[in-house]
Amino acid sequence: MKLIPNMSMLILKQEKEVDHEGLSPPDMVIGKEKGGISAMAAVDKETKDMPERPSITWLIKEVFDALCLEDKVKSNKEGSSEESLEKRCAEACKKRMTQKAISPLGVKGSLEDPAARMAHVYLHFIKNAYLVNSVLSDAYAACTHIPSGTTVFNEVMKAIDWGRLSVFSLGGGPGDDILGVLMFLHRHGFNAKVSGAVADKCGAWEKTMNSIFKSLNSTQGADVKIEKDKLTQQQVYLQNLWRRLDGGIKYHKSDIRAPAYFLQPYSAEAMALAQADIILLPFVVSAIKDNEDCSAALQNVLENMKPGALLIYIDTAKSGCTETINELAYWCGLRRIFFLTEMTFDLPKYEKKEYLERYSKEFEADSVRSAKVASIVFKRPSAACEFERKGRMSDRERKNIQQAQTRLRKKNPSFRFFAPS
Ligand SMILES: C[S@@+](CC[C@H](N)C(=O)[O-])C[C@H]1O[C@@H](n2cnc3c(N)ncnc32)[C@H](O)[C@@H]1O
Repeated sequence: MKLIPNMSMLILKQEKEVDHEGLSPPDMVIGKEKGGISAMAAVDKETKDMPERPSITWLIKEVFDALCLEDKVKSNKEGSSEESLEKRCAEACKKRMTQKAISPLGVKGSLEDPAARMAHVYLHFIKNAYLVNSVLSDAYAACTHIPSGTTVFNEVMKAIDWGRLSVFSLGGGPGDDILGVLMFLHRHGFNAKVSGAVADKCGAWEKTMNSIFKSLNSTQGADVKIEKDKLTQQQVYLQNLWRRLDGGIKYHKSDIRAPAYFLQPYSAEAMALAQADIILLPFVVSAIKDNEDCSAALQNVLENMKPGALLIYIDTAKSGCTETINELAYWCGLRRIFFLTEMTFDLPKYEKKEYLERYSKEFEADSVRSAKVASIVFKRPSAACEFERKGRMSDRERKNIQQAQTRLRKKNPSFRFFAPS
């Protein structure tokens, strides 16, 4: 039997701009600056100035509209005379920026508060989506041998080739990690439909997540055939992500630390896990690690992964959780197929900081554009370790793999790539 290699530890720093679409350098049209989040009416006008180059930053504006509405409805109902949403969001941003690890605490100590969710989306959504896209792409490149056309991403690639990929995000909040998977598929030209599910203890994320994913489809309600010619390159890109999503994302309000409920036989979450080809765990272990049930909860998940499924772990490099997940995964019989102990990630330049300038003034904080993270991809072993893709690999896919391999080799010449024995 051919073995999947354990990737050596390495320190990787991405200095050069990575083209996340595998396209030529961006040709930008920069949106005009407008003052304050309260100037929401200006958004419609601004969409004319949207970049021609695919950018997902613009999704944030749409979700803020939804959050403003939610907050208005809530304060009308409760008749509360709280500070404005913007002010509370600014407070939440400050609090989150000063916390070492990304924590699930908002202004009122809960993500149920729209201001806390707004702050999380503003600070982390774009960066987290790109991170998942980047880790998946790098791991796929490191685990694929172009000359022989074989890959250790075998079950996942089979699912993609068959046209349906199941993804389950734990503590997924706004679903930025699922967006990252859609970006990965688009980047490589894979046309599989994604069945997505999120399990998070904060029920309020569901609405926020739905409004984000709804805004991917800019022609909602319109006749797509008629409108198609009029779409900008930006809108076409977002629609391409949207059409990979199979009927939205199922949201499960559940506490992953409550083993009496979570993953009980025949529960919806247990089904989602049993079907999942990819399980996503970005910035969640650090959010739950202080609880004594944390290890038992994670073990519960890892033991129930199906053969061939991948677990994508991403967390802050200094969170101290890498050891926890490594040990648990080893204990549960998973194989580590990709491991970067410290990866400095920067958003691509075409996701311009200026797009969010009005919010950075209002919240007195910039959204997070770079992060030092540890990223690991584990696989539950399956009967077949490799998968022949030679005949199926498109030029676009091959080009993306080669680009990522070159980048990884350049950063760390000792990095071990998969090669069939
Ligand atoms: C730091 S946020 C990360 C959110 C998302 N994964 C991302 O990367 O943007 C941590 C998330 O974990 C969720 N969470 C915390 N404890 C949890 C638990 N016991 N069960 C389920 N979700 C939990 C929070 O509600 C929050 O959405």
